[in-house]
Amino acid sequence: MKISVIGAGYVGLTTAACLAEIGHSVRCADNDEAKLNMLRNGQMPFFEPHLEEVLSRNCKAGRLQFESPVSAVTGAEAIFICVGTPPLDNGEADLSAVANVARTIAQYTTGYCLVIEKSTVPVQTGQQLKRHLQLYARNELRCDLVSNPEFLREGSAIHDFFHPDRIVIGVEREEVATQLREIYRPILEQTFQCPVHAECTHTQKPAWIVTDTNSSELIKHASNSFLAMKISFINMVADLCEAVGADVTKVALGMGMDPRIGPAFLNPGIGFGGFCFPKDVQAFVRIASQAGCDFSLLKEVENINKRRVAHVVEKVRKELWVIRGRKIAVWGLAFKPNTDDVRFAPAIELLHALVHEGATVSAYDPQATEKARAVFPDARYCASPYEAARDAEAILIVTEWEEFRQIDWQRLRAVVDRPLIFDGRNTLDATELTRHGFHYISVGRPPVMSESTGSGEGTPASSPVEGERVADAR
Ligand code: UDX
Repeated sequence: MKISVIGAGYVGLTTAACLAEIGHSVRCADNDEAKLNMLRNGQMPFFEPHLEEVLSRNCKAGRLQFESPVSAVTGAEAIFICVGTPPLDNGEADLSAVANVARTIAQYTTGYCLVIEKSTVPVQTGQQLKRHLQLYARNELRCDLVSNPEFLREGSAIHDFFHPDRIVIGVEREEVATQLREIYRPILEQTFQCPVHAECTHTQKPAWIVTDTNSSELIKHASNSFLAMKISFINMVADLCEAVGADVTKVALGMGMDPRIGPAFLNPGIGFGGFCFPKDVQAFVRIASQAGCDFSLLKEVENINKRRVAHVVEKVRKELWVIRGRKIAVWGLAFKPNTDDVRFAPAIELLHALVHEGATVSAYDPQATEKARAVFPDARYCASPYEAARDAEAILIVTEWEEFRQIDWQRLRAVVDRPLIFDGRNTLDATELTRHGFHYISVGRPPVMSESTGSGEGTPASSPVEGERVADAR
């Protein structure tokens, strides 16, 4: 099938690359000509594990090309709309990019085509889209509209594309679902080996869910909002645990054993971020309100999340007494590991808060430094976690990168001013840290004092460790 994907962001590029990987002929388009040129030259506009190799393989095989939107829709049999739907000031999704694509499709498609809405959109967008397509069509437009929401996660997008839990299809006519089934057949039947994870043992076939377009659109917003609710719920339980001296890890374990609750998404921390949850929860509240339903439950989910960074800053203040003039290291800037995405990342909000309080902040992230620097230039960005921690009176861990679990604690102990770690994601091993003289404060669990009183008398903080990189990465 001749497929076009409009939008070369996280969802669009992954979709284009993976559809080509399973054998389709794919044209990927974007309004941003500079981005298209980068992609044609084999450069990546963002970091997503394994995406580069899948793109490169399929470009070389001639199954994937980058074109302008007009050229991509001409002659296409199926068009996936994967453009951004960012939040407006009032929380509503900005659908102008979707509307622009609809206009291009209406004016330049030739022959019958499927128009597949993959961007996250408010319920009833499909109906609007259909009207818009008819309105701007040059000639008689023959198309079917499909809602096919995307559930892939940044950082594991390629794996998620090949192993979805479910594929949701919203159609106006049952027969249209058959055409979509054909596009996804290798994934549905799991006849296609996941291309990038040699160790991947996932064998479960995805559920195939066919519904009307309104329900399909709602499935996406309701799913993301529910997951966000789980996170805010466990974050409140974590606060309660801190207040009464309980351990949220054990509480979450006990809760998650109930199959009706499940263990996933019960990790407390500094709050959810990224380009999906914050905007989708906000948009869902608006969608409900416009339909006459007051979804106050979700407003509280948002409120709880908005308080997370302030809660961490308070914990830091409690420990350091005064934040002004203190040197603080922040480890992790991306909104989650394995991505360089800092959009709505709690780390950026934390940098703002700490610098506003008068702290001197040194920050490190394995991938997201440049993107963080672009949105917040007032921190010192470092080339290693050790460099960021040099002379720091506290280290704050915001993103649970694997690299932070592999730290040489003895080496770190020698460069910090005070061995104090705030683990905002409960990602480290308290026993190991305290053994190396660190005072360890995590989320929803009692603080653990270092074996040597936590006042800096642990491992001797002698001369800089050999080979230490001290140069400022700027
Ligand atoms: C999410 C959905 O998971 C995905 O299905 C949808 O298509 C897009 O939105 P993504 O934004 O990539 O994906 O990230 P996800 O892994 O879901 O995490 C979102 C945020 O929640 C992150 O900031 C993460 O740190 C936070 N989180 C997640 C928690 O704080 N606790 C948890 O238990 C899980």
